[in-house]
Amino acid sequence: MFFNLLFLTMFYNIFSNGLIIHKKNNACSHLIYYPVKDFSSNCYRKRDVVPSTPDMIKLNGYKFETHEIVTEDGYKSLAFRIPPKIHDNRKEKQPIVLDHGIQVNSEVWTWRENRSLAFVLVNAGYDVWLVNQRDSGYTTHVKYKMSDFKFWANSLDTVATKGISAILNTVATATNKSGSIIYIGHSRGATLAFMYASEYPEEAQKILTGVVALALIIYFEPVFYVKLLFQLSPVLSKIVNVLRIPVINYPVKNTAKFFKILCTGKFQKYDYVKKGSILKYYQEQLPLYNLTNCKLPVYMFYGTCDIFIKEKAVKKVFKELGCSEKEYFRIPSGTNTKKLKFGHNDYLFAKDIEELFYRNLLRVLDKLQPKK
Ligand SMILES: *[C@@H]1O[C@H](CO)[C@@H](O)[C@H](O)[C@H]1NC(C)=O
Ligand SMILES: *[C@@H]1O[C@H](CO)[C@@H](O)[C@H](O)[C@H]1NC(C)=O
Ligand SMILES: *[C@@H]1O[C@H](CO)[C@@H](O)[C@H](O)[C@H]1NC(C)=O
Repeated sequence: MFFNLLFLTMFYNIFSNGLIIHKKNNACSHLIYYPVKDFSSNCYRKRDVVPSTPDMIKLNGYKFETHEIVTEDGYKSLAFRIPPKIHDNRKEKQPIVLDHGIQVNSEVWTWRENRSLAFVLVNAGYDVWLVNQRDSGYTTHVKYKMSDFKFWANSLDTVATKGISAILNTVATATNKSGSIIYIGHSRGATLAFMYASEYPEEAQKILTGVVALALIIYFEPVFYVKLLFQLSPVLSKIVNVLRIPVINYPVKNTAKFFKILCTGKFQKYDYVKKGSILKYYQEQLPLYNLTNCKLPVYMFYGTCDIFIKEKAVKKVFKELGCSEKEYFRIPSGTNTKKLKFGHNDYLFAKDIEELFYRNLLRVLDKLQPKK
């Protein structure tokens, strides 16, 4: 147990904390300080609360609905819908799905009190859906318990195709706004959208009006020390596996798997080598996700200090995308930006988040008008 936790902590720290939010540009020095109450007066968390998404929504004075999203393969994940706040006779805007990254869940969109993206969008008139993926802790399974290994045995492909499809169909039905829905994904949340839109282009085009990708990881271009770390990650996951505690092992393993897939340099499906890829796909080459299929309007944001993503990788995705309406934005923009740092998780935690990110995001969302 001790070693397991030690390695988990190390892994978690390395991947999620110090390195991916820039201390200079952050309210809290580490990611873990956000959900932990009373750590620092500089952090934006309300004190003395259990850090759940519904609690945070209530605490900030919003009403919400809870929806259960059921996938074809038996996962039931909660989604929290915050209806728009309408001021000054402004029109209600379309639904926005906010999808979180790996190792976190929908809570991250609420950690900044009234500066949280969820509430900023609600105040701007959007119908906001905070969704949770199957590894988020807001999920049960019809057959497996979270403590079963089978609960965690998913490829990213399944999460994308079955998970995103279920989410979007649920939102489309509940809102009756199929064709107008905007998807905003952060990190893996963005990766999933492109897997889905490449695999089910017609369905994606029918339901969505556009995708906004924050810190998108597809072609993996990390700085050298991150690359080294990821090369070590299979070893780490073997080590944490020794004690066989699924809720600890699998999030770590899945993270390792996610980065292993990315390290192939191709946007391709999960390699079932040991389980017989050839049987699974009926062909010898691993199938690729073909970004040409993605015809949706796409807006991408990337931070100049994101240790996972270099501009080269952003441009590569951008070039391959099949849509005619596409654009990417560098944060910080402009030239005299040496002092400003914007990293992988700064879409959630940056001190100057309004100026660096929200302002431009809201402008982009304005362009994604409903189709009808
Ligand atoms: C957030 O709340 C604080 C304190 O109540 C207030 O001063 C600030 O203007 C609010 N900010 C936004 C963006 O609503
Ligand atoms: C859904 O939207 C369509 C077209 O906008 C409308 O004709 C229909 O009545 C709506 N259905 C419901 C149940 O509101
Ligand atoms: C992707 O799809 C386009 C058009 O459907 C096709 O021309 C291209 O060869 C495909 N690329 C790959 C790598 O399969």
